[in-house]
Amino acid sequence: MAESLNLRQRLEHAGLAFQQQYGRPPTRAFRAPGRVNLIGEHTDYSGGLVLPLAIDRDVLALVAPAPARRVRIFSLAFDEAREFALGAAEAGAPSGHWSDYVRGVLSALEQQGLDLVGCDLLVESAVPIGSGLSSSAAFTVALAQALASVAGHALQPVDLALLCQAAEQRAAGVECGIMDQFAATLSRRGCALFIDCAQASYQHLPFDERRARVVVADSATRRALAEADYNTRRREVEHALDWLRRERGIDSLRAIEPGDLDEALEGMPELLDRRVRHVVEENRRVAASVAALQRGEVETLGLLMLTSHASLRSLFEVSTPELNALVEAAVEAPGCLGAKLSGAGFGGSTVNLVRPEQVERFCQALAHGYRQRTGLEASLSPCWSADGASEIAVLSAEC
Ligand code: GLA
Repeated sequence: MAESLNLRQRLEHAGLAFQQQYGRPPTRAFRAPGRVNLIGEHTDYSGGLVLPLAIDRDVLALVAPAPARRVRIFSLAFDEAREFALGAAEAGAPSGHWSDYVRGVLSALEQQGLDLVGCDLLVESAVPIGSGLSSSAAFTVALAQALASVAGHALQPVDLALLCQAAEQRAAGVECGIMDQFAATLSRRGCALFIDCAQASYQHLPFDERRARVVVADSATRRALAEADYNTRRREVEHALDWLRRERGIDSLRAIEPGDLDEALEGMPELLDRRVRHVVEENRRVAASVAALQRGEVETLGLLMLTSHASLRSLFEVSTPELNALVEAAVEAPGCLGAKLSGAGFGGSTVNLVRPEQVERFCQALAHGYRQRTGLEASLSPCWSADGASEIAVLSAEC
């Protein structure tokens, strides 16, 4: 991932592109960040605990109102324009095109009964697509904010997140949980976001970047049909929960203590047993990570991340040889506190926790170790934590 341009340069560039596309400047601009997930993987959709951290890679959405009852949008990343009539946005079946997300957001906003106005939009992204950093949540959140705000509606962050989750589920056919959209809307710079997905409640947890830095390592791989694999995992967890309800009268995975797993899962089909073990123990690891962060023990968080990855690999089976190679190479690199896959898995990126003074040497060693193991080039990005979605000032005409 190339070092991202600073916000001012990106806004200037996007503003010029807007002007070229529509013959006038944008009136407002919005940004929403991508995220890493420090720990709590595949736990959100069963009401579990997660600990993501928004990163300084974001999506920008520039907008200006227009008289016609239609939305025009230009994607800088795809160098492509699309147009939608207002009031007619049906999410439709996912086609795999980026504009599915636009249709998803438009139909989610309209289904909320929000009156939209015609407008022109341009979207620019510094979140690499398909690398597990939640580029789609950043895209839908920035876009929904722009569309709602230009029509005079102020959406609360939680409502914005829920709306974008629905948009993404419809647009991409991925039955995602709430973690990514919460991270994109509610995060705070200098903090990780601790979310209890059963309550939809959250807490900002100070994350001291003088003690530990986040480094994203993109494996340069993405498994085809990862969406289908994701939905399959979700189904498996739901089937396991049905079984537990029927056989044991247990109606939440949160109700099982790790020490009671053997008893609770006795007789459960073996594959479902593994999925449940991962979720129950992962929830416990998130709680332990929160306690560790509160005590400033980044070493403990790092160790929990490594255990999380091992469980994602062997119990939940969402890792890949490349992601495993990245984690193995990270463990051997100087300054490594912890490493795990980040997000859904099936390719994409790992999140690494690194001692700040060793970041450069860590990256060199990790790139080398990964190349040796796989012959592939990892793309390494030290990141800073970031705020959730916000409006940003558009640059004045002389820029
Ligand atoms: C994707 C989904 C999230 C979450 C993660 C796995 O990022 O969008 O809701 O389930 O996978 O933790």
